[in-house]
Amino acid sequence: MPAAQGERRGPAVRFHIAADAAATAEMAADSVEGVIRSNPRASIGLATGATMEGVYRSLVRRCQEGSLSFAEATVYLLDEYIGLDADHPQAYRNVITRSFTELVDLRDDAVFAPDCRAPDLDTEARRYDRLVRAAGIDIQLLGIGRNGHIAFNEPGTPFDAKTNVVSLSKATRRDNARFFDSAEEVPLQAITQGTGTILQAKQILLVAQGSHKSRPIRDALEGPVTSEVPASALQLHGDASAVLDLEAASRLSTDQPQV
Ligand code: GLP
Repeated sequence: MPAAQGERRGPAVRFHIAADAAATAEMAADSVEGVIRSNPRASIGLATGATMEGVYRSLVRRCQEGSLSFAEATVYLLDEYIGLDADHPQAYRNVITRSFTELVDLRDDAVFAPDCRAPDLDTEARRYDRLVRAAGIDIQLLGIGRNGHIAFNEPGTPFDAKTNVVSLSKATRRDNARFFDSAEEVPLQAITQGTGTILQAKQILLVAQGSHKSRPIRDALEGPVTSEVPASALQLHGDASAVLDLEAASRLSTDQPQV
């Protein structure tokens, strides 16, 4: 039975612990490969962030070696900053292009993201929400913020949120400043798939590496289901799992065999 929000419960999210970050990336890439193999026309939900870089490297390698093809797949980004120039290297569309989509055999018209230069951003958010729901995401890759956020759904976001314009928390802007020349350059807002939109995905795969993720991972997987920890919403999903390195898993109380 799904847990009600606020109810304390054990981990409903299956997790696998790998020895290091590289091994988590391979496991996540294995999951994406499995989805593509069973349905070459799959819709893949892509996340950005340092965590995903190894996952994309592994998928690119598999594609370049000829063992995997994205030729019939489509991909959907989770979120995008508002206020960056179209060619800004940290615009998520550009990050994903550089690290993944231009390196594999995806069609150019098979990559979707919120358009943060649209004249009306609320209308654009609603358009993107409809697009993602209509696509039906077969597997959604997710990272987790240090404050437990998923995509840009900050603590306090309702679990039924649709794609919308959001303000980034100070903590998130501070964390993401490492990708910019200065902290002031980090955008104040973004369009993000809402938690409710993300939960529509048929399968969700959360990836986390490093000791700085151990607290949000414990809270998300073993803590109460609460909008104060956006990633705890995954406990409400029927097919959510996590791949964690030893450090990210270090605060979990449940013993699971290491892979
Ligand atoms: C950003 C993204 C999230 C991502 C998070 C963690 O805020 N919007 O989707 O999960 O960063 O990023 P990292 O993997 O760099 O820790």
